Amino acid sequence: MTVLVTGATANIGRKVVDHLLAAGHADIRALTTNPRRAALPEGVTVVEGYLRRPETLPAAFAGVDRMYLAPTPDTVGEVLALAKAAGIEHVVDLSGEPDSWWGTVCTAVEDSGLAWTHLWPADFMENTLTWSHQIRASGVIREPHPDSASAPIAMDDIAAVAATALLDDSHRDRAYPLAGPEVLARTDLARHLATALGREITVERASRADTVAALTPTMGDNASWYVDNVLTDYRPDPATLPVTSVPDITGRPATTFADWARTNAARFTVA
Ligand SMILES: NC(=O)c1ccc[n+]([C@@H]2O[C@H](COP(=O)([O-])OP(=O)(O)OC[C@H]3O[C@@H](n4cnc5c(N)ncnc54)[C@H](OP(=O)(O)O)[C@@H]3O)[C@@H](O)[C@H]2O)c1
Repeated sequence: MTVLVTGATANIGRKVVDHLLAAGHADIRALTTNPRRAALPEGVTVVEGYLRRPETLPAAFAGVDRMYLAPTPDTVGEVLALAKAAGIEHVVDLSGEPDSWWGTVCTAVEDSGLAWTHLWPADFMENTLTWSHQIRASGVIREPHPDSASAPIAMDDIAAVAATALLDDSHRDRAYPLAGPEVLARTDLARHLATALGREITVERASRADTVAALTPTMGDNASWYVDNVLTDYRPDPATLPVTSVPDITGRPATTFADWARTNAARFTVA
């Protein structure tokens, strides 16, 4: 059974490859724009292509049975038509609820006629890396809503769920909201990072404009979109918590933010 991982050198796709290998699955094909630079593990078949250039996909899709689909809302319809034509039977997609920002992907997958498993993650723990410049420069993080809270998830946990769903048919036609094990305010995240990095970090309430300016060194032109669409004053609905899908599906506990911060502390120290 051939499993294709798209975005295979991206943050989540690369970890999906590792989790498939760890589960003992050897027949993995990895889609990347640059096979020479990709440095994927030995035994993985690397193919050249990109979801935003559908003309590169037919050769990559030939003979594939299942696919991890990285989110490219603009081309997803064309990608899925090619997947269906190639005989791919099951798609595990990183997306969001139909009415969310990533809903286009989820809806297109359901409309494709292929079997599917939707992964609907909360915000990523890795998103806190957008604070790295502010932490290095001053130890003061600017945020429009310091008390807003979420249950962020580690990308590695999303990848572990994806690998499990790709290999186990019992996850077909299921939509999985995925979140981390705790609800944490922005100030809680900063506190855990301060402990992990061994330095003082504070969160200061800031205007939209000042938050965008503070994030621009790490996010460039994406900072405005991020502040307007992600750093809204979000509060998870207590009725939907705790989200236990990561341990339920993978059989291992979801990563805590304190553990994630310890493991990733060095990433906050380099520009
Ligand atoms: N709740 C949420 O926050 C949520 C929900 C759903 C989806 N998402 C989105 O999911 C994604 C997850 O990140 P990810 O790093 O795993 O994957 P990604 O951003 O979807 O994929 C990035 C990969 O695409 C490839 N690529 C080829 N040409 C590119 C180009 N011109 N620009 C950018 N990438 C190009 C690169 O791999 P190669 O060089 O190997 O080709 C790159 O590593 C993010 O985009 C995130 O916004 C978020």
